[in-house]
Amino acid sequence: MEIRKAKTADAVRIHELVNQYARQEQMLPRTMLSIYENIRDFHVAELDGKVVGCSGLHFTWGDMAEVRSLAVDESAGKRGLGRKLVEANIAEAREHGLVQVYAFTYVTEFFAKLGFRVVAHDSMPRKVWMDCINCPKFNCCDEVAMVLDLVEGVNPEPFDVSQVNIPIVKLEKRVG
Ligand SMILES: CC(C)(COP(=O)(O)OP(=O)(O)OC[C@H]1O[C@@H](n2cnc3c(N)ncnc32)[C@H](O)[C@@H]1OP(=O)(O)O)[C@@H](O)C(=O)NCCC(=O)NCCS
Repeated sequence: MEIRKAKTADAVRIHELVNQYARQEQMLPRTMLSIYENIRDFHVAELDGKVVGCSGLHFTWGDMAEVRSLAVDESAGKRGLGRKLVEANIAEAREHGLVQVYAFTYVTEFFAKLGFRVVAHDSMPRKVWMDCINCPKFNCCDEVAMVLDLVEGVNPEPFDVSQVNIPIVKLEKRVG
């Protein structure tokens, strides 16, 4: 078993892994374009020379990042690969000096075992929602927000919406 950074040659397999679960509505789908554009986010898990799992760490701001597109093929499940993939994401977040990682998920027990805690959606800083505005579940998100603090007693900085060019009206609708 090996956990390593993804290469562009892994993109097709990542697409397969993520979208097999997206079809079952267990996670959000990804396009090939978004996987290629974000390939450096990903770690993959190899078992017997085959990529059987993936997980991305997507930077949101200077102090926080999202663990997203975590998928382990059923044939390779329950051997600790999911845990190792997220641990690789967390290690990378620490290397970048981030103070928090977060996930939107249905597998709350899995993330709780890695130290994440459940938080209210509206307690997440607005910057988190920037990617959500194009999501089919925008305004009806049923995923659970979970965070892992990486630096004790330090919270992500408050967000000044004037720092980015985003459709504030739509965002206001989501986060109030
Ligand atoms: C969730 C998923 C990534 C777990 O991968 P995995 O390799 O089977 O998980 P691991 O073997 O590393 O499990 C780590 C721990 O979490 C537990 N766990 C794993 N999946 C779980 C689940 N669905 N519910 C509750 N606990 C779970 C394991 O029992 C294990 O506990 P232990 O450390 O006490 O033994 C995998 O099942 C998957 O890809 N699911 C479909 C897609 C998905 O939901 N992705 C998450 C999107 S946020």
